[in-house]
Amino acid sequence: TGQMKTRILEINRETARFFHHCLKSPAGKAGYDYFKNRQLSDKTITKYGLGYAPDSWNALRDHLRKKGFSYPEMEAACVVVKGKKGSYYDQFRNRVMFPIIDLRGNVIAFGGRVLDDSKPKYLNSPDTLVFKKSRNLFSLNFAKNQKGNRLILAEGYMDVISINAAGFENVVATLGTALTAEQARLISKYATEVVIAYDSDEAGQKATHRAINLLSEVGVSAKILKMSGAKDPDEYIKKFGARRFEMLLDDAGNVVEFELNKLKAAYDLENTSDKVEYVRRSISVISSIQNRMEREVYAGLVSKDTGVSVASILSQVDSAIKRKRRQQEKDEWNSIQKETRAATD
Ligand code: CTP
Ligand code: MN
Ligand code: MN
Ligand code: MN
Ligand code: MN
Repeated sequence: TGQMKTRILEINRETARFFHHCLKSPAGKAGYDYFKNRQLSDKTITKYGLGYAPDSWNALRDHLRKKGFSYPEMEAACVVVKGKKGSYYDQFRNRVMFPIIDLRGNVIAFGGRVLDDSKPKYLNSPDTLVFKKSRNLFSLNFAKNQKGNRLILAEGYMDVISINAAGFENVVATLGTALTAEQARLISKYATEVVIAYDSDEAGQKATHRAINLLSEVGVSAKILKMSGAKDPDEYIKKFGARRFEMLLDDAGNVVEFELNKLKAAYDLENTSDKVEYVRRSISVISSIQNRMEREVYAGLVSKDTGVSVASILSQVDSAIKRKRRQQEKDEWNSIQKETRAATD
């Protein structure tokens, strides 16, 4: 399979060249116009090696055949698919193409977007001998060179490209899936802090919550972009410009702020029972803070929102911390006992 891997990488590189060449040729005008409508410069198109897969069932297949690759090799690279009747056809058709490049500069996979509103919006390479989507990040090949220990994590290809073109090269995205533990570990090799810049819709916010937890498990601290007036960073930068996006980055909130804002949005503070529930859940969030002074600051914010006194909130926070500590001690004791029992059995 070592030899097959090499062949797949050669096919991927040739495929990326082919798509890029198509984008620049008259036959690829639709793709080029698409990127131009999305305000990508030629420089950015070249930097990311963007391309266009022609509206054809066999253009790439025949091109690769002429270059000496076999159908089974193309199939292993997943740029060509075998049909039911045994014939081979192009996987990506009439899509703008985003090559996925690893840290060694190899083209390992592709993402392709439709030019209109049809579905599926994005088509991504499945896992192959040279590509595991759960272990790679889009644009890490650029982000890894950045000085500093901070990465921006976005949701989509276009977000990453826009953020990069706006002057922030330290940006990556996952590849059509939610962040995985393996990707979090990969991030921890390059950064101690991540600014999560996911979409502002509900899916994006849920994914943010998940990412915070995965990153904290590998010791990476998270900050969360507070974006309003746009559905994602790409749209934000187009509407408000790079300078305003930089201000968003500087103003990114910490995890406690994110959690408290989410709670505040979920409850109607004019409604008494909602208010009680909001205070209760805020206390749980605040009790996760290590530093006493910081706890006081956030208790002050909740107090302002609800009229409940800071002293009352803090005393309940203290009780919650004690409860958590007792529970931890109990858990530790139980696991020690379990181990001793296992050892003596
Ligand atoms: N995605 C995917 N398959 C889909 C939809 C989305 O793999 N059918 C992945 C892509 O990597 C995409 C990311 O999820 O970039 C975010 O999806 P979404 O927010 O819907 O798209 P955008 O990136 O905003 O794409 P665009 O701006 O081109 O509409
Ligand atoms: Mn989205
Ligand atoms: Mn939580
Ligand atoms: Mn978008
Ligand atoms: Mn989006």
